[in-house]
Amino acid sequence: MMPEAALFNAITPPTLDGVDLRCVSVEALLGDCMAVLAGMADQSVDSIVCDPPYGIGFLGKSWDQSVPGVEWARECLRVLKPGGHLVAFGGTRTVHRLTVAIEDAGFEIRDQIGWVYYSGFPKSLDVSKAIDKAAGAEREVVGQRVTGNARTNEGWAGGQTMIPTTAPATPDAVKWSGWGTALKPAIEPAVLARKPLGATVAASVLEHGTGALNIDGCRFGYGDPIWIGPGEASAPGGKIRPVRGRFQSEDDPDLGLIDPPPPHDLGRWPANLIQFPKPSRAERERGCAGLPARTGAETVERAEGSAGLNNPRAGAGRTAGEVRNIHPTVKPVALMRWLVRLVTPPGGVVLDPFMGSGSCGVAAVLEGFGYVGIEMMPEYHRIAEARIAHAGRYPDQWEGGSTEREELDRAGQISMFEGVGC
Ligand SMILES: C[S@@+](CC[C@H](N)C(=O)[O-])C[C@H]1O[C@@H](n2cnc3c(N)ncnc32)[C@H](O)[C@@H]1O
Repeated sequence: MMPEAALFNAITPPTLDGVDLRCVSVEALLGDCMAVLAGMADQSVDSIVCDPPYGIGFLGKSWDQSVPGVEWARECLRVLKPGGHLVAFGGTRTVHRLTVAIEDAGFEIRDQIGWVYYSGFPKSLDVSKAIDKAAGAEREVVGQRVTGNARTNEGWAGGQTMIPTTAPATPDAVKWSGWGTALKPAIEPAVLARKPLGATVAASVLEHGTGALNIDGCRFGYGDPIWIGPGEASAPGGKIRPVRGRFQSEDDPDLGLIDPPPPHDLGRWPANLIQFPKPSRAERERGCAGLPARTGAETVERAEGSAGLNNPRAGAGRTAGEVRNIHPTVKPVALMRWLVRLVTPPGGVVLDPFMGSGSCGVAAVLEGFGYVGIEMMPEYHRIAEARIAHAGRYPDQWEGGSTEREELDRAGQISMFEGVGC
């Protein structure tokens, strides 16, 4: 099948250091990425930033059955310029397969980036309950507990439900009470790889514009919650504890607090650990006003009023009145902006072979880059087109306007950052 191309230019893209970006083209293609990639010229893109299937069958989706393999990574290598970077998200349980495929294709694995978001819901088996169930023992209801979305100062945001708490019925269930099988998901890894340079970094940057990372463009401002580590004391005016020398012990009296080195004007050196909240419903929906609406329940394929609908395991959007962006795994635009800026030279073209609802495309447009996105599901492709076109026409509306902040606040995601190094 020939991909359907939708071409549109970002209307008010920025200019970067004299590089005129008004000529960048943005394409959202419908088709299987292997077929579309086969038709792309060698060395035709400057970076690849993508969010492939994690191979965990997320919410039963057919497109998430397997991790892209070495054939896919070879095509990426071919269309990327020498020294170009690839960033690919992976699931914590399957990212090793993705990494091996990328390495086997000929990429150099440079790093792994950890995106921290905190708000995941643990999918853990209650071992004590499982023991009682297997024994056919009935547990006594001893109380009620509230469950739902993020907790805010006013209560629970976006729907809540009461569930009974029960006491272990058998001695074995008592013994294993409090044991589970999974941690709360709070991080998603991304592979950072580079196509071999064929020359020095300096020569590659001069010839192709690729090979290096945009460190200064991606620095962490002091106090910015993108950085979750310690060290805000090294912001202007603070004190730090010196690194212990080889022959110094913990109780060395000379180990007092000292003045930190002068801060960098542009902020901290960017780390491979970054924090961004998951996208608000307002951000997901932006640009989708012309698309058909579904109820939250229809979006996650649950019956209206069913007990399962309030369970966070049902997926994003389940409690919303109207949903137009029905994609279940939307990445935050701020995260994607940081990533495309990190690996794409000024005026460069970003390739995203797994476009989904187009968050990477929105990011590329807002950053003034060209973009080629590929999505095989027509219903997601429509959403991506709408969101990316909206970002081109109304870039100001994507900067975190008041609606978005209010929604984040309601979901308890802003208060999470209060006091973090500010
Ligand atoms: C994890 S989602 C990407 C979500 C995206 N980051 C967003 O913010 O909306 C992966 C997407 O890749 C698409 N996909 C999976 N296999 C594909 C293939 N072979 N070719 C093109 N698209 C594919 C799926 O339909 C899905 O929408």
